[in-house]
Amino acid sequence: MGSFYITTPIYYPNAPPHIGHAYTTVFADTIARYHRLIGDEVFFMTGTDEHGLKLQRAAEKMGISPEELVDKMAEKYKWYWSLLDISYDHFIRTTHDYHERVVKYAMNKLYQDGLIYKASYAGWYCVSCEKFYSPGEYIEVDGKPYCPIHRKPLEWLEEETYYFKLSEFEDFMKDVLRNRRIVYPESYAQEILGKIEKDGLHDVSIARPKERVWWGIEVPFDPDYTVYVWFDALLNYLSGIGYLEDMDKFHKYWPEVHHVIGKDILWFHTAVWFSILKALDVPLPKKLLVHAFLINRGLKIGKSAGNVIAIEDLIDRYQDSSGVRYILMRLFNMAKDIEVTTELFDSIYNSELADTYGNLVRRVGVLVKKKLEGTAEGEEIDEELEKPLRETLRIYREAMDEYDVSKALTAIMDLLRRANAYINEKRPWEKQDPSKELYTLLETIKYSTIMLYPAIPRAAQKTADALGYKITNPYQEPPSTQKKYEVKQALILFKKIKV
Ligand code: MSP
Repeated sequence: MGSFYITTPIYYPNAPPHIGHAYTTVFADTIARYHRLIGDEVFFMTGTDEHGLKLQRAAEKMGISPEELVDKMAEKYKWYWSLLDISYDHFIRTTHDYHERVVKYAMNKLYQDGLIYKASYAGWYCVSCEKFYSPGEYIEVDGKPYCPIHRKPLEWLEEETYYFKLSEFEDFMKDVLRNRRIVYPESYAQEILGKIEKDGLHDVSIARPKERVWWGIEVPFDPDYTVYVWFDALLNYLSGIGYLEDMDKFHKYWPEVHHVIGKDILWFHTAVWFSILKALDVPLPKKLLVHAFLINRGLKIGKSAGNVIAIEDLIDRYQDSSGVRYILMRLFNMAKDIEVTTELFDSIYNSELADTYGNLVRRVGVLVKKKLEGTAEGEEIDEELEKPLRETLRIYREAMDEYDVSKALTAIMDLLRRANAYINEKRPWEKQDPSKELYTLLETIKYSTIMLYPAIPRAAQKTADALGYKITNPYQEPPSTQKKYEVKQALILFKKIKV
């Protein structure tokens, strides 16, 4: 038992979330739920990144104020996350005053410590990324610089700004990336280390002239400037856990913080974030969990590429949150981009959720009702399934502790396939008293359902209610064995999709 703090990136609320944002958020939720299940005290945070030029322009385009836009969109995000059963403990918005206070405090501290100075800046900027690109980083289309991620023209900017002395942290960053296992998978640490070794670490602009970007937190020592949106946003991880306001809470959770991010924002979450933390005398995060992209026809799914898949369409197609969450987590990959197709989604849903898990739950439910009048009792489970069950519990825990959700789910499916084969072999419908077999199957379903719970809480809870057991820590000692099952209903959990 311990504390566990997990965060998602805070999303730009210029548009509703799509499948790419769901990918990150469902993953973080699954890990959060797993930790609650095994008894940890969890604080899970997501939210919205509401300042900056991107939001300012989006509001302008719609003819409304940024406040109106972000208020409306924050609600929308919450609505989408409720559709997907995201169990966040706190939804942070960077327009909250407790957050602004932390940002101002951090700006002042760095300024007083001589880590911020004023100078002019010139460079190419991508408003969608809210980021400057240097030569070599951007791509060229018709001889013009374009954003490599959004494939949109970059904008030339030249202005007086405030810099954060990131260059002072070069040795520190190299040491962290070489010797501390924070970034996971490790290959992402190597990527950033390689970049720093090649290009060095340069100071970054952390302010914008108000006349151009007025929608932001005012720089506390110069009212003509607003704070750069990334500097503002990263600090949410501190402000959201009570930094400055509730230091007990902060000290309880901060040492256990796990940031989940996509690889597009790796630079900010390593070079920039770790240096800011060092400058503030705050320990570095415990883990930075980085994942690859969902892609469609080779391109990262996103608003700019115009290949967005809507969350509500997925929910409609795969029944409710469970189908969508399962598919996303089954495909979840930290190292490799995953090409998304309806065929792939349908086949995972049909073969694993409908034909394997759903089918087993249905068959066992029907048999217990029919052959045992709804009550199955037993002392121990048949050794044919006992060993695989114990082995699966072990693999599951190991995989989940390494954030390998996909491996954990695959292991459960293997077990459930064996359980389906066990029914076919034992033919309990032909037996006078198939108590032993059905009890064995119920125990197997129970543990499988508990292991599935973090990924598919809604379907898992439904199954538990129908078959008469509780979702509890599967690793508690002594194990909470159940001797008697009163089956209420033979459920059809997942309707198959006709392809
Ligand atoms: N506001 C910043 C983050 C600040 S965190 C201090 C931001 N927001 S975002 O709305 O653009 O969301 C980016 C995140 O969404 C990515 O890091 C990733 O986690 C997720 N994804 C968006 N599209 C994605 C895919 N196509 N595939 C996988 N994840 C994707 O950046």
